[in-house]
Amino acid sequence: MIALRRIDHVGLRVADLDGAAARWAAQFGLTEVERRADRIRLACDDEPYALELIAGTPLGLDHVAYELAAGCSLEQARAHLLDAGAPLAPGSPGAPPAPGAPGGRDQEPALHTTDPDGFGVELLPFRPPADSRPAHARPAANPAPGHPRKLGHVNFLTADLPAQLAFYTATLGMAVTDWLGDGGVWLHINADHHVMALIAQPAPPAPHFHHLAFDVVDIGALRVALDHLGRHGRWLAWGPTRHGVGGNIAAYVRIPEENCLVELYCDMEVLERGHVPRHWPDDRHASNTWGQLPPRSYFRFDAAAIASEAASLEALGIPLAPLSPDKETP
Ligand SMILES: [Fe+2]
Repeated sequence: MIALRRIDHVGLRVADLDGAAARWAAQFGLTEVERRADRIRLACDDEPYALELIAGTPLGLDHVAYELAAGCSLEQARAHLLDAGAPLAPGSPGAPPAPGAPGGRDQEPALHTTDPDGFGVELLPFRPPADSRPAHARPAANPAPGHPRKLGHVNFLTADLPAQLAFYTATLGMAVTDWLGDGGVWLHINADHHVMALIAQPAPPAPHFHHLAFDVVDIGALRVALDHLGRHGRWLAWGPTRHGVGGNIAAYVRIPEENCLVELYCDMEVLERGHVPRHWPDDRHASNTWGQLPPRSYFRFDAAAIASEAASLEALGIPLAPLSPDKETP
């Protein structure tokens, strides 16, 4: 059996470890909580950590980590992954040891696998919270106000939606929340509307990691965060929006350095027990009850798309040239 409790952290490969850690801390209000030779870990509040920056290439997503639920041991999860035919990477319990790394690729016990698109997935054992009260009632480990509440979800573009969906449901145990037409699916593991979304895109840049999302308290906190990011030279690829699917008020910040976007969001739908998946028509209202669909650059990560987006060229009537198959140049 397998059961996930929550998303634990996102691991990003970065070019300049110290510079990236300082940047994520200054711009998103994260706090450095752990430093090793090859990685730095940052937290939103007093959770263990939400973001793991790793020195390496290619730049961008290395892995997404999930914490197992209290009733699911690492050994049970390992057996389930093996039964499901998922590859176990060196360093996982029961898998061959990584060369030169007797403790695995990290010092914590964890399972490491990959999804059908080749993205890393890490499963961490359940860690009983030292203090089970909600965060606002716990002593603050992070003294800085204004930080996000938590890492909430991730989003991927995929050219093989059936394979990715089968992996995240049958192999990892997520459940479908909603469909958008037949090209988008949102998945949950607890009462949050989604912990992951998969968006079908038949052509490059898919498969591609699209965004990680931080939960902020409300639209007032979102305003403060977006003003702060604007003063650091950041811009929005899309938003603020009110998603029909998920209900979250969301804004998407371009992060060229790590080939992804960061979503800041609040007010996501809370699911009832026994939630039944819904099928939304793929229209403007389902994506944004407040207004516009995103520019095409929102689905791209190449330099031409980023330059177009930074100058808002699509809004000025200058279309974005199609992406060539090499994914890098139009
Ligand atoms: Fe999102």
